[in-house]
Amino acid sequence: MTASGLLDRIMDVGRDRARGGYSRHAFDPAEAELREWFTAEAGWLGLDVETDRNGNIWAWWGAPGPDATVTGSHLDSVPGGGAFDGPLGVVSALDAVGILQRKGFTPGKPFAVVVFAEEEGGRFGVPCLGSRLLTGSIDPDKARALRDPDGVTLADAASRAGYDPSRFGPDREALSRIGRFLELHVEQGRGLIDLDSPVAVGSTVIAHGRWRFSFRGQGNHAGATLLTDRRDPMLPAAATVAAVRRIASEVPDARATVGRLVPTPGGTNVIASTVDLWLDARVPGTGLTESLVEDIAGAAAEAAEAEGCSVTVSKESYSDTVTFDGGLRDRLSGVLGGVPELPTGAGHDAAILAPHVPSGMLYVRNPTGISHSPEEFAEAADVDHGARALADVLEDLSR
Ligand code: GLV
Ligand code: MN
Ligand code: MN
Repeated sequence: MTASGLLDRIMDVGRDRARGGYSRHAFDPAEAELREWFTAEAGWLGLDVETDRNGNIWAWWGAPGPDATVTGSHLDSVPGGGAFDGPLGVVSALDAVGILQRKGFTPGKPFAVVVFAEEEGGRFGVPCLGSRLLTGSIDPDKARALRDPDGVTLADAASRAGYDPSRFGPDREALSRIGRFLELHVEQGRGLIDLDSPVAVGSTVIAHGRWRFSFRGQGNHAGATLLTDRRDPMLPAAATVAAVRRIASEVPDARATVGRLVPTPGGTNVIASTVDLWLDARVPGTGLTESLVEDIAGAAAEAAEAEGCSVTVSKESYSDTVTFDGGLRDRLSGVLGGVPELPTGAGHDAAILAPHVPSGMLYVRNPTGISHSPEEFAEAADVDHGARALADVLEDLSR
């Protein structure tokens, strides 16, 4: 089945009627259904499916072993996300295996399709959780203690879904088998529209991280408390949202976003006692993201003091700038006949793996230039072109 046909098959799984788009999060029913669907599709291709200690799924074409060519992506989404971010890389991998099988190709090296768990951090806040745990770039105790918006820990959610969270942690065996990793992904900006090309080879991923700002004041009555008597944490939170745009605008090529803000207790006639907001900050280069966040934290502290409130800032995740493996990039470009190279501001499991194994990415054109939104899109012709390009490079990489 073509990649576009496979995508059609899962178009009804995890639709979010309230937000629009899809909400497919770690250990929720939609994600479980997608895992089952993937296992069945891989089974029809004759692949052997196993789930590793961190909840990542591996579908092996032939026996598992070292120096494996591995491709894949993720099936979870951001809240109210699009249909392509993640699943496109998974369906393209399955299509590519089918294409190679139909032409009678047999890999000369171990070969696997992987589905990484909780790439978006849409439920537990830390992105690329499956690949971070596998590579040892997050402490498993810290991971187990992460909480979703309802206060459920990752450990509890995993247990309820039938996983054993005590096994979460670095997986040397899984990592040492990967000879090279290639992730196909929908383009998440306008890069390929401007380049007028259906596919590109990934060059770099900019440094990015997430920080939580917790403002504390005094919860109180909206009618009985004079304005002069208030310590309302919503004010420094709002000032911080404005400061994020103002300060980041002065840093070349910086991106900084507050996409989530939670007042507690959250009543119309209640002055909040606390407001939490989450900052997503990304600046190309080394050390510049942290210094941007320091400046924003300074503005937040000033705004908090002016209202008689306090603020604490904690880093929830961080990934340095990644440049994908030069040899692999050249090889992909060679096989694909000199398609353009493209940097990205989006994070990926391929970037988490890159410091450990040669890793690379292929992007497929997105005519809306929009992502993490229901408007994210790729034409069926481009989707299938991308899967054929993936098949070509996988054939070359796994001879
Ligand atoms: C994932 O897509 C991210 O860049 O946040
Ligand atoms: Mn994403
Ligand atoms: Mn993605």
